[in-house]
Amino acid sequence: MSDNFQSIRGMRDIYGDDAAYWRYLENLLPELTNSYGYEYIKFPILEKTGLFKRSIGDATDIVEKEMYTFLDNGDESLSMRPEGTAVCVRAGIQNGLLYNQRRKLWYMGPMFRRERPQKGRYRQFEQFGVEVFGIESIDVEVELILFCHRLWQKLGIDNSVSLNINTIGDLEARERYKLELVNYLSSHEDKLDNDSKRRLSTNPLRILDSKSASTQECLQDAPVLYDFLSDDSKARFTLLQELLRKHGIVYTVKPTLVRGLDYYNDTVFEWSTNLLGAKSEVCAGGRYDNLVQHLGGASCAGFGFAIGMDRIVSMMQQTDIDYHNNPDIYILSDSASEIRFSAMSIAEQIRDSMPWKKVVAYAGSGDIKKQFKEVDKLMPRVIVILGDKEHKNNTVMVKFLGDASTQKMYTMQEFNRELLNIFE
Ligand code: HAM
Repeated sequence: MSDNFQSIRGMRDIYGDDAAYWRYLENLLPELTNSYGYEYIKFPILEKTGLFKRSIGDATDIVEKEMYTFLDNGDESLSMRPEGTAVCVRAGIQNGLLYNQRRKLWYMGPMFRRERPQKGRYRQFEQFGVEVFGIESIDVEVELILFCHRLWQKLGIDNSVSLNINTIGDLEARERYKLELVNYLSSHEDKLDNDSKRRLSTNPLRILDSKSASTQECLQDAPVLYDFLSDDSKARFTLLQELLRKHGIVYTVKPTLVRGLDYYNDTVFEWSTNLLGAKSEVCAGGRYDNLVQHLGGASCAGFGFAIGMDRIVSMMQQTDIDYHNNPDIYILSDSASEIRFSAMSIAEQIRDSMPWKKVVAYAGSGDIKKQFKEVDKLMPRVIVILGDKEHKNNTVMVKFLGDASTQKMYTMQEFNRELLNIFE
């Protein structure tokens, strides 16, 4: 008998060029979280099945049909983690990280869901997640949304993602709404798709994001969740929108956004893209103020999100940005030979004093305009410009790129003296 082992459907090996994109993202994310002061946490892949049933919810797709579950040693039911929030909360409670504390945690690693594999949907996929505990106010929601926005900008994919937000209020409001919704939909049951019919008794809110056209038509005249929310929930949502607008974040309110996991309250959001074929979510999250208590801890507010890294890598592969060669410093120079000579000398000088920096000095013909095109493609962190004007004045221009872009002109003397300070 010949062995012909293949990987499991929906689980992939990542190597070569693909792996280089992954490394780029895996390096960038911790760097960015560091700049926000978030703490790293690692937790196991296997957990007791009950943890996911209790947090994500018995009547959700994940728990009903997507978990990899088995009996360990014939008695205890264990599951491969399908997501990180429940595990992060379990770890937080167990290790005393949440009691009377404010915590901003991040994690990264594989999750497992037995979904139907297709492009952008795998059975083993990776998430990067942030979970914030002990902070009830809206500002932390804004901070996490700004974090995502900054990440999209850093990756050069900010024009390909869009933000949807919604509020689902508190449990009491949702219970009252569910009754009305079920009442209304039961009288139109013949128009509902089969999944939605089933959800009438298990998870009626999920009917709102059904993909079936006839169900959606039926929902047009259905009661609206927002009308059932408390004044407090409505005020929170108004404030969130006000702050997002002030920060220049473009968003759409999507009243049918309810999320597929049960633990949320008030704010929910998702970032989606059309770049991956059918419109798909690359990041999603929301507030979950009752989860810690629900899992046995003391009452503690929670808010977080998770990014689907496989989907982000696919998006990165569709840009023409050359992430692999992404230099730290790129030197642009006028093509006159003495200017080029100075540019090369500067590059050598930087390599001498900071050998860990990746430095690219433009070589070959082509004016500065052409070199800027290469800058757009390579996305260096800093550019050094040595044009005709700078050369004549014995100066050099240093520009830090990115959203908080800054620039400063140095005399050559200052530049040589300050080199380490300028780039570190
Ligand atoms: P989720 O919406 O289930 O939320 O997953 C978050 C992201 O993980 C999705 O937007 C998607 O990008 C990615 N993802 C999910 N399933 C797959 C799959 N089968 N293949 C590839 N990518 C996938 C959660 O997991 C929550 N824990 C998010 C959260 C954190 N809420 C609060 N904190």
